[in-house]
Amino acid sequence: MSELQYHRIADDEKGFDLSMFCVPKHYEDDLERVYIPHGLIMDRTERLARNIVNDFGYEEPIVALCVLKGGYRFFGDLLNYISALNRNTDRSFQMSVDFIRLKSYQNDQATGKIQVIGGDNLENLRGKNVMIVEDIIDTGKTMLKLLDLVKDYNPKKVRVVSLLVKRTPHSVGYRPDYIGFEVPDKFVVGYALDYNEFFRDLNHVCVVNEKGKEKYAIPKS
Ligand code: HPA
Ligand code: MG
Repeated sequence: MSELQYHRIADDEKGFDLSMFCVPKHYEDDLERVYIPHGLIMDRTERLARNIVNDFGYEEPIVALCVLKGGYRFFGDLLNYISALNRNTDRSFQMSVDFIRLKSYQNDQATGKIQVIGGDNLENLRGKNVMIVEDIIDTGKTMLKLLDLVKDYNPKKVRVVSLLVKRTPHSVGYRPDYIGFEVPDKFVVGYALDYNEFFRDLNHVCVVNEKGKEKYAIPKS
């Protein structure tokens, strides 16, 4: 395995002014800064693909499991980069894809309940090499729960790739096998990460401002 490497975004990282990049008009007032521009996400993802391909070896097929909804863009881009490596060398491995849908957040808080609300039959994972692809590890509770679920199907090997890992005091200490960026304890959106289902249609990873949080809040019942 490659040594665990990731780009650490410092707590005092200011990011980029919104006006430096293209941001949809409908979100202009709801965001503080651009935190990770889309191009940087793509470049980091390309390198993660290379690390993964080198580690997994070429001997056996893998099942890539996408954690929905937040993981869908990272999943698509990561698999595109992996496929490019697979078709441009003399060694390659087969990949199949599966999807699972989990939900645990309301507003910017973990609800404490992690629900599986759909997806493929995990029976497909039995005896396979599995690569779980996630958008963000925050407290780590969702991933521990998912790993528990997956282990019931006795996969041969399980690796977890997460685009982001949050530095938060609420972390249970879980670290995935591959990390794109480590981010400060702020609520981030964009590139399929959401706040109550909004902001998935934003290319860059950004920090929501208070106005945005209020505008798209779900009233507490
Ligand atoms: N943003 C979006 N979704 C999340 C986050 C976050 O910061 N943490 C956990 N799920
Ligand atoms: Mg989410």
